[in-house]
Amino acid sequence: MCGIVGYIGHRNVADVLVKGLQSLEYRGYDSAGIAVIDYPDEEKSVQSPAVHIVKGVGKVAELKSMLAASPVSGRQGIGHTRWATHGGVTEINAHPHSDLSSRLVLVHNGIVENYRELRAELSVPEERYKSETDTEVIAQLLSSLYAGGGAREMIGALVALHGRLRGSFALVIMVKDIPGKIYCLRKGSPLVVGFSEEGEALCASDVPAILPYTQDVVYLDDGDIAELSAEGMRFWSAAGESLEKNETHIDWDVSMVDKGGYSHYMLKEINEQGAVLRSSMARRLSGEGEVDLSAELPWTKEDALAWKRIHIVACGTSYYASLVAERFLETITDLDIRVDVASEYRYRNLPVGPDTLAVFVSQSGETADTLAAERLAKARGARCLAVTNVIGSTLAREVDDILQLKAGPEIGVAATKTFMGQMAVLYLLSLYVGKLRGTLTEAYEKSVGGELLLLPYKIESILQQQELLYRLAILHSDARDFLFLGRGVSFPVALEGALKLKEISYIHAEAYAAGEMKHGPIALLDPRVPVVVITPQDDLHEKTFSNILEAKARKAPVIAIASEGDRSLDSAADNVFNVPTTLPVLSPFLTVVPLQLFAFFVAKLLGCDIDQPRNLAKSVTVE
Ligand code: M6R
Repeated sequence: MCGIVGYIGHRNVADVLVKGLQSLEYRGYDSAGIAVIDYPDEEKSVQSPAVHIVKGVGKVAELKSMLAASPVSGRQGIGHTRWATHGGVTEINAHPHSDLSSRLVLVHNGIVENYRELRAELSVPEERYKSETDTEVIAQLLSSLYAGGGAREMIGALVALHGRLRGSFALVIMVKDIPGKIYCLRKGSPLVVGFSEEGEALCASDVPAILPYTQDVVYLDDGDIAELSAEGMRFWSAAGESLEKNETHIDWDVSMVDKGGYSHYMLKEINEQGAVLRSSMARRLSGEGEVDLSAELPWTKEDALAWKRIHIVACGTSYYASLVAERFLETITDLDIRVDVASEYRYRNLPVGPDTLAVFVSQSGETADTLAAERLAKARGARCLAVTNVIGSTLAREVDDILQLKAGPEIGVAATKTFMGQMAVLYLLSLYVGKLRGTLTEAYEKSVGGELLLLPYKIESILQQQELLYRLAILHSDARDFLFLGRGVSFPVALEGALKLKEISYIHAEAYAAGEMKHGPIALLDPRVPVVVITPQDDLHEKTFSNILEAKARKAPVIAIASEGDRSLDSAADNVFNVPTTLPVLSPFLTVVPLQLFAFFVAKLLGCDIDQPRNLAKSVTVE
């Protein structure tokens, strides 16, 4: 949600900002803008600093066209993509925003909860505010806190500002009378800064905007203030004390954030899933299928035996990966397992304490609901583990332990390869907990571990059959409603398949545990409602088969996702897509792939904006 980028350096600032904003487009936005300050120097005829703000509703490509028509110059600038919260999607509400006297200009991610109170207190006539945003109030407040004493005074003003704002914010600020400096302030919303070998300073809400310049970054913590200049980066705490911050090396390179020859990021990411599985298992699973997470999790047998329960908490796709893992975990441990959506977990009265292992699953590590749930579990004394793709994320920095997904950057808003990575890591975690607690036999560990190692090849064989899924998409892309059904581990796969379809094609899709169909949703069935049934070869296959017959009896077209060699569906389903055989408990790793591709092809046929679906943001940083 909202993207921020800031730059000081020798390149064309507007180009760097636009490129940075494009690399953050996946975050979701509805308007975009930049501000560049042009300071007088010996080579220029400029007499006083000139602030150029260019902004508008729509995509970054439109901003780029505006800049091509009216270029701006300068050595430092800030840019923003806005996902509207306070005030409609208008040019005036788009960032950057200035204070009323235009002494400073800033961009903001997050929500300032007390902005009405501050607006009243600032006693500026209402008609003088240009926008409806909380951000303009922040600009005005900061201007009132800064008397014009230059860089040193600015830090004090930012400390005071931090004390006055309630809510979440990442702020990037330029002040007209402080040339060559950009200021950052963070609370709640992510902000990362970096300094390149060529003497360029950058800041952004996420690393893809910084990666072309440096792979060594500093993640700001809550309350941190940063000052960026061509000389380097300096940091202060919320109390105004000077800070030393450690750099984190990002092992993603810039090629990972391009489309790599694919038409869409989502398609690229679906096709990367075999590789994601391999890297998620590397150094965690031996060639014999034995799991060892001791290099990442310093847990002893005594720690694991002290746990009475495991809570797994997540949102969206991460929640569905957690539901898949729940079914596996409950077969190999004797613990009480509970999986919940983060937005509910924190409002329930659940037993959570020092005897709880609390696992928070989040691709981005920035999801506001998941963070709030983690803070609650932590405050109650639970051992908190993050399963995340982003090692420097807020979640990763707050928990006791981390298991990283190793999926590489995921740019498509619809999560695909990180679902795969999450399932892999959660399965390894399950095996490890079972092993530590002594509830897992070596033979079973090796049989699951050995089969996990084969899954990348099996995924790659599914990816060879994309043409078949494209043809299925042609057959069904005019449907307005879909039903997805599955039992056992296939139920969360049905949920994920339905989510993918609705997110990117805007077709209504509902998922049910197959046995629930006759308790209501069957009323929807007719020849216009395709039913996608996930039914790999397992103990529940016969029961799901009966549900297929029930759907067929209502003339609903049935698409079955089944195991290779299963001939029983040939006459029952209208279309069958076969996946390679595997252990029943591992089937989600295979059955989800055709569902992702099916959703992709349907959305493509409908001409949807697949990588940036309407209304969605890649990381949901508000509750
Ligand atoms: O970054 P997170 O894994 O915490 O994100 C959770 C959800 O917002 C995310 O999975 C969302 O549902 C995706 N759009 C799914 O494709």
